[in-house]
Amino acid sequence: MGVIIVAAGSGSRLGRGTPKALVPVVGASILERALRPVFGMRAPAQVVVVAPADQLAEARMLCESVAGVASDHLTVVAGGSTRQQSVAAGLAALDESVRTVLVHDAARAFTPSIQFELVAAAAEETGAGIIPALAVSDTIKQADATGAVVRTLDRSELVAVQTPQGFPRDKLVAAYSAATEEYTDDAALFAAAGHPVSIIAGDVLAFKITTPWDLRRAEALARESGGSTMAVRTGVGIDVHAFDAGSPLWLGALHWPGEPGLSGHSDGDVLSHAICDSLLSAAGLGDIGSRFGTDDDRYAGAHGDVFLRETVAILAGAGFEIGNVAVQVVARRPKLAARRSELEAHLGVLVGAPVSVSATTTDELGFTGRGDGIAVIATALVQRSR
Ligand code: CTP
Ligand code: MG
Repeated sequence: MGVIIVAAGSGSRLGRGTPKALVPVVGASILERALRPVFGMRAPAQVVVVAPADQLAEARMLCESVAGVASDHLTVVAGGSTRQQSVAAGLAALDESVRTVLVHDAARAFTPSIQFELVAAAAEETGAGIIPALAVSDTIKQADATGAVVRTLDRSELVAVQTPQGFPRDKLVAAYSAATEEYTDDAALFAAAGHPVSIIAGDVLAFKITTPWDLRRAEALARESGGSTMAVRTGVGIDVHAFDAGSPLWLGALHWPGEPGLSGHSDGDVLSHAICDSLLSAAGLGDIGSRFGTDDDRYAGAHGDVFLRETVAILAGAGFEIGNVAVQVVARRPKLAARRSELEAHLGVLVGAPVSVSATTTDELGFTGRGDGIAVIATALVQRSR
């Protein structure tokens, strides 16, 4: 999938004298805020940012800071003098492999990840253009140039349309090359080429920052919670692996000589995997299975430190700081006491926050009691950085 974020507008109605996407909202620019939920999507996507031509270098730096380890999925190109030209520049930068494309206004900076996922899923399923829309609450009238009301429109038939808008890439590209006039949104251009467009439910958080009043609303939202959720969040992760006496034991990204190893993909390090799941869970960024595919060769023999470092980078990229992680190991062996402080220090460095490790047995009950394997439960506390 490809996501084009158009951010090349001047922001004349906001009237700040700088391109709107670079205007700060409580410590982070509109562009950075718009990108966080995009990089927070579960499925990786190519992200094309269409930035103001004369501030390309600055925009690229901001985008890379949000993308973090996902920077190889990021493309930054210069925009044109109209939104339509900017979208066309974004379309031209899409990877060959992209089948479905979402086009999104950077100015809708608070649009949550789930909205991108819902639009993408509907576009992929139907092959139609998909646009998120909200019912209108004001009565809408048509007036002429003198201010005289011509007619009142039937509100029940009207919707207010947002972005991201999703399309099959080939049809949208063809519609763009065929377009001879300016349209107010991508769906109008797509429909003018004869393709069907359907609406799905929009999200109030996807409002467009257009006027100084909208910016105040954005600042209030950012101050209050960083978006749709509280700034401080907890997460939980559990992992279980069976003993495999033939392999070495790796637990908490440390080698445990003389102890039976664990089976499983990578090195079976239940402790590191449970921590990764707790961190991803706290940030609402999926889980280790969806982030690190078992079919990805890079992780085949990888030790826990690889997963921990990448998970920490994913959270940082999505704007989260880690408060602490607490882990409990449920197992008959190995006995942790002798190496507990070494383990906690090692994990603390990898995670960049305190990690406390405790251990228990289960009174000889169940699979851990029988000594069939190890179970680990981890919880994490994270905070969305301001
Ligand atoms: N946009 C763009 N290139 C343009 C014009 C607009 O990429 N030549 C982008 C804007 O950056 C914005 C989105 O399209 O994210 C929606 O446009 P709008 O809200 O109208 O932004 P501006 O055009 O910047 O604002 P204004 O119309 O007030 O000047
Ligand atoms: Mg505009």
